[in-house]
Amino acid sequence: MYRTHTCGQLRAEHEGQEVTLSGWVHRRRDHGGLIFIDLRDRWGLTQVVFDPTSSAEMHDAAHALRNEYVIQVKGRVRHRPAGQANPKLATGEIEVEGKELRILNEANTPPFDINKESPVDEKIRLRYRYLDLRRERMQRNLLLRHNVVRHIRNFLADEDFIEVETPILFKTTPEGARDYLVPSRVHPGKFYALPQSPQQLKQLLMIAGYDRYFQIARCFRDEDQRGDRQPEFSQLDLEMSFVDREDVMDVIERLMISVVENTTNLPLLHKPLPRLTYQEAMARFGRDNPDIRFGLELSDIGPMVAQSHFKVFSDTIASGGIVKGFNAKGLGHYSRKDLDDLAEFIKDFGAKGLAWLVVDQNEKGEAVVGRSSFAKFLSTDEVSAIIKQLEGEPGDLLLFVADTFAIANEALGRLRLEIGDRLGLRNDNVLAFCWVIDFPFLIWNEEENRWDPSHHLFTAPMDEDIPLLDINPGQARGKQYDLVLNGNEVAGGSIRIHQRDLQEKVFGLIGLDIEKAREQFGHMLEAFEYGTPPHGGIASGLDRLVMVMAGEPNIREIIAFPKSQAALDLMAGTPTEATEQQLRELHIKLR
Ligand code: AMO
Ligand code: AMP
Repeated sequence: MYRTHTCGQLRAEHEGQEVTLSGWVHRRRDHGGLIFIDLRDRWGLTQVVFDPTSSAEMHDAAHALRNEYVIQVKGRVRHRPAGQANPKLATGEIEVEGKELRILNEANTPPFDINKESPVDEKIRLRYRYLDLRRERMQRNLLLRHNVVRHIRNFLADEDFIEVETPILFKTTPEGARDYLVPSRVHPGKFYALPQSPQQLKQLLMIAGYDRYFQIARCFRDEDQRGDRQPEFSQLDLEMSFVDREDVMDVIERLMISVVENTTNLPLLHKPLPRLTYQEAMARFGRDNPDIRFGLELSDIGPMVAQSHFKVFSDTIASGGIVKGFNAKGLGHYSRKDLDDLAEFIKDFGAKGLAWLVVDQNEKGEAVVGRSSFAKFLSTDEVSAIIKQLEGEPGDLLLFVADTFAIANEALGRLRLEIGDRLGLRNDNVLAFCWVIDFPFLIWNEEENRWDPSHHLFTAPMDEDIPLLDINPGQARGKQYDLVLNGNEVAGGSIRIHQRDLQEKVFGLIGLDIEKAREQFGHMLEAFEYGTPPHGGIASGLDRLVMVMAGEPNIREIIAFPKSQAALDLMAGTPTEATEQQLRELHIKLR
């Protein structure tokens, strides 16, 4: 028997017991004869003491121990001497008086400290991921992830959902990214695609009558990596029949609240979860994934400056653009250089410039304009109206962008987050969910000169907006909903089209000709004709959800074996070359 207890188990009540522990040497300290070992396993740390006076041989053996050696220790549990207890450790009241020591395996010196949370180059962490995973941070994250998944499974099972697995070798699933393809050996020249999501399969399950399906599903998307994206990631995927938007949102809302309350101590800022329409989210936050943990909301000053003599503003309005800004509370002390840096920051998002105004005070203490890049072009009334609308107080800094709807919102939305960071308003210790609904059904694709679905091909338009599809498609709204957490899109779903004619009409609108659609989605179109119930669902990016709950800055911290930014597995060295024979069998010739 390797152990009688884990390294996180022993307490004062075990005093006097003979125990056996196994684990890794977390830390070794030599203290004038006494040798202290912190023995570690996944449950915790236990202090073991080797005393030279009890056995010289064993003391020598203990002396030879190095960090990360795997050992087995037998000994007696005793209270730590008065004043030596460690309240930070669950086992901190006791120690084990080592009587027998067995080295189960030695270890090379690790390339980084496992017993400290010191910063380590991520490439090295990923190269030695099995060592990195021994560290407390990763253990904490994977445990949280496990608890979240377990809670999701229990919650949904209790709500009568059943988990069904769907294939990994499948067909193109249009979620907007590039597919990963797998060549077929038995069918020369043919390929499977790894699913970007189980979207089609879960709809087919509804047609099959498996109402209330869910799955913790692996998804694959060949897209540029970012901190919140991985080429393979996991979704909590679900689908329900005979439902409308409210039914799906209700399940997810209760599930998310329950997950947070049962797996973290973090407060939820809002309950029930607030809902914003897409228009409202764009108006107030400039983004459809708003971070509502803090204010600094955007304000439209277009109507006030449309007739002004400041050409940047009036010309923008005249050409159909917008002028918006927000109050960077208390940043009136920013220097010219600080302001130039902010202007530089938003250039990355397409903005042409940043107009700014520092709010000062007159002798009566009233808010008046101080330094400004544009106030001289406006009338006193126009300037006062702007300060008033943005609730400018002495010491504030008002920031404005004039541009197209898309660019002004993108630039200001980003700038608001940046200023929020600088002001310490994006607190990782609180969680703020919100729903975003009433998205446009279609988005105009400038490059391809056609409409794209704003969610995906199978999302239904709002019933009352169906007539708009013929006259003004850009005005139609979809039955789509996104769930946002602290500014991250953590779930998205929709009510689906369940009639073949509407589905074909949508294919037409997005310029997918019917022959092509039949080739790609013939199985779906055919299935629609065998009794399709009205249905809808949602998928939550599990990695992203846990990332936010853990307060981690990137998704790789939540995944045991993630890919690097460059989509490499740095530990196994993936992707690798295939052998000549493999290629031949797959009928592939490399250029
Ligand atoms: P969608 O494409 O919006 O919807 O994806 C759902 C959620 O998955 C997460 N996500 C990702 N997480 C990590 N890495 C990625 N590359 C990545 N891409 C997406 C996001 C997102 O909100 N089939 C539909 C759902 C439905 O309509 O039911 C779908 O996949 O958190
Ligand atoms: P100018 O008259 O070009 O010196 O511009 C006056 C101020 O307007 C400067 O602070 C510019 O950065 C700013 N500005 C220029 N273009 C824009 C724009 N599209 N939106 C907001 N401010 C702008």
